[in-house]
Amino acid sequence: MNIQTPKVIRAGEARCDAPTVQEILDRDTRPIPPVLRKQSYTYVGSDDIPAERYFSRDWHDLEVERVWKKVWQMACREEEIPEVGDHVVYDVVGMSFLVVRSAPGEIKAFVNACLHRGRKLRTEDGAVASFRCPYHGWTWDVTGALTEIPCRWDFPHIDAENGRLPEARVGTWGGFVFINPDPDCEPLDAYLGELPEHFRRWRLEDCYKAVHVKKRMPANWKVCAEAFIESYHVIDTHPQIMPHTADANTQYDNYEGQHFNRMITPMGVPSPHLDECSGQQTVDAMVNTAGRQVGAVGTLSLPGDQTARAFMAEVARQRCAALTGIAYDDASDSEMLDAIQYFVFPNFFPWGGFSPNIIYRFRPDGNDPESAIVEIMILHRFDPSKPRPMPVPVHELRDDQVWADAAELGGLGAVFDQDMSNIPFVQEGLHATTVGKNAVSLGNYQESRIRDLHRNLERYTQHA
Ligand code: FES
Ligand SMILES: [Fe+2]
Repeated sequence: MNIQTPKVIRAGEARCDAPTVQEILDRDTRPIPPVLRKQSYTYVGSDDIPAERYFSRDWHDLEVERVWKKVWQMACREEEIPEVGDHVVYDVVGMSFLVVRSAPGEIKAFVNACLHRGRKLRTEDGAVASFRCPYHGWTWDVTGALTEIPCRWDFPHIDAENGRLPEARVGTWGGFVFINPDPDCEPLDAYLGELPEHFRRWRLEDCYKAVHVKKRMPANWKVCAEAFIESYHVIDTHPQIMPHTADANTQYDNYEGQHFNRMITPMGVPSPHLDECSGQQTVDAMVNTAGRQVGAVGTLSLPGDQTARAFMAEVARQRCAALTGIAYDDASDSEMLDAIQYFVFPNFFPWGGFSPNIIYRFRPDGNDPESAIVEIMILHRFDPSKPRPMPVPVHELRDDQVWADAAELGGLGAVFDQDMSNIPFVQEGLHATTVGKNAVSLGNYQESRIRDLHRNLERYTQHA
């Protein structure tokens, strides 16, 4: 029985009775970068979230008009479109954009619809010299200028100006390309706020996309995103990672007025939920279930004079060095091991640190409020004196496949399948609750990033 109401100090101030992230960092074998030393948490209430936000058509329509048509969203990596004419198709809530390398140092995003009778110009990523509509052949160059109309004599009312492809705003950061459909939006720099400062040391622009797996999930995009935004679920969803995951110790940070938040979950330290766990058990669990350091499988013996965390951080340094050709001698244990995970509203989850950087992206699947596109990418660093490796194409899983079918995810595939196993039943339960509580409740601290996501949603949906 542990359902008595916990002793209340002030709301939002209660924490797990275990070493904090900062105390764990105090024992790191290397200097800790100041960005990991910062804590920023503000209690913003304990109100329930209405269930309808996860399935109602009206709420979805509001999100479309006031969020997806108004905010900056991650569209692709810059290295996916290195040459003029290379393009990626980014679809969201019925909108579609052609994100194109329009000149060597320039990227544009065109509305992916023919100005004749509206056919999508491209349905797949690729490389073209020009965009020729497959229906009647209207053609645009890669800068969006109309260059050909078959039977030109029949369209005297179309000229260079009204024949230009409409554009969305484009910005880049960290090797990612962002688009914003709103021509009057704030610049990307202002939207990202303090985020680039957090990543200054981790330089995601010096990485390339080594893994990209995509799958449709039968749930609202927020149900999916919220399955990856806290470590509270580890105890019941991923019990096998508890010997090496300090789940309840996690530090959650929100930032007033910003579009991002973060958490730091220490690895190589056992969960405080476990009564007993030896250092060797931590090492064993980590090599068997962790997937971020490629090749981290097999058996490793923990030397008697080392902590599991210091030992595994060194293993990670060696493995990452072998993988990338870069030395990681100055990287802290935290940067080599921990889940330093950021969320940039609404669709972008970049991980910090120096281990291969995981990236999640969640968005609605077309205009279905109960279906989402979920993507998992992994960025690898590379020796900057060598040519940038080519990014992988997207590996799209069918509805009947599981994430573990994507062998390139390594041990992470099975962990993601555990996360995904909840998602359809959360969606069903949110419908079921409409004759019951009709809302979800959130922990004040461990689920503060979910509340922060909804704070941003409200900020946009409540202001026309
Ligand atoms: S719809 Fe594109 S050329 Fe006719
Ligand atoms: Fe999980």
